[in-house]
Amino acid sequence: MTSVSRSSGFPDHRPRRLRATPGVRRLVAETRLHPAELILPVFVREGISEPLALTTMPGVVQHTRDSLRKAAVEAVEARVGGIMLFGIPAVKDAMGSEGTNPDGILQKAIRDVVSEVGDQLVVMSDLCLDEYTDHGHCGVLAADGSVDNDATLGRYAEMAVVQAEAGVHMVGPSGMMDGQVAAARTALDAAGYHNTAIIAYAAKYASGFYGPFREAVNSSLTGDRRTYQVDTANGREALRELDLDVAEGADIVLVKPAMSYLDVVRRVADVSPVPVGAYQISGEYAMVEAAAEKGWVDRERVIDETLLSIKRAGASLILTYWAVEAAQRLVAG
Ligand code: PBG
Repeated sequence: MTSVSRSSGFPDHRPRRLRATPGVRRLVAETRLHPAELILPVFVREGISEPLALTTMPGVVQHTRDSLRKAAVEAVEARVGGIMLFGIPAVKDAMGSEGTNPDGILQKAIRDVVSEVGDQLVVMSDLCLDEYTDHGHCGVLAADGSVDNDATLGRYAEMAVVQAEAGVHMVGPSGMMDGQVAAARTALDAAGYHNTAIIAYAAKYASGFYGPFREAVNSSLTGDRRTYQVDTANGREALRELDLDVAEGADIVLVKPAMSYLDVVRRVADVSPVPVGAYQISGEYAMVEAAAEKGWVDRERVIDETLLSIKRAGASLILTYWAVEAAQRLVAG
């Protein structure tokens, strides 16, 4: 074998120089993750006495109120930036009544977590009806069975206020009803909660990757959410949703899911006047955990790679079920 000389009067371009050692790679890394940018989504279920493991999301549980407090403390210790709470009521009905019950499970969980961690973690809550409705849709239904946009807005407005009363720092409208951010902002302001922020799911796509979440919240949904969530085929529509949400008062916007929508994250991040987050959802988590369990991928390496990719695409915040684990690794260096 003879090696080919690469110098023929030109400077000898060798990008590999900057890849040669761990030290130089660390020096020139363009994208870095910080625990404060990670948000941990958690589920708390009414009426259980032990945490319940989720079969489709190994490592994730439905918390009791008690175990949720401990999880919040663990997140603080790992220096995670925020926590997003999802409540699962014991009783579901057509209107999602428990979502507006001041003593409903989510409101209790908000009080618990805020009293436990104070300002050491930004406490957020899902503002949506699907955890509470017996039909599993994100809104209330009209007589013909369709999801009634404007009737749902009234329910969201009430939910925003009970969540704020419970002390949440940010509400996360995730139902993809038109006008949901304005409904929440107007209701919060009218009730005097000017400082309760809105982290809005601007572009939430109708995705098959939500599969495991349906187990996580004991959803009874039959059918799908294609009449209100964004079609996978569309990128421009995310920009329209961004404009509307910002005009309606969103403080932060989210794109969801993350990995199959990194182009959308990039497009939104390039033009958004407010911080942009991405939600790495249940199916993304499950896919990596399943492959790792089979020994087909290097689990930690792949997890860190997915998170870094989402950040590189332009998200400055990431919701991920691996938030605590990833933060612990980052803190350990
Ligand atoms: C709606 C909501 C969903 C998720 C978060 N908020 C479910 C859906 O739209 O079907 C999914 C989160 C995940 O899959 O990890 N309240």
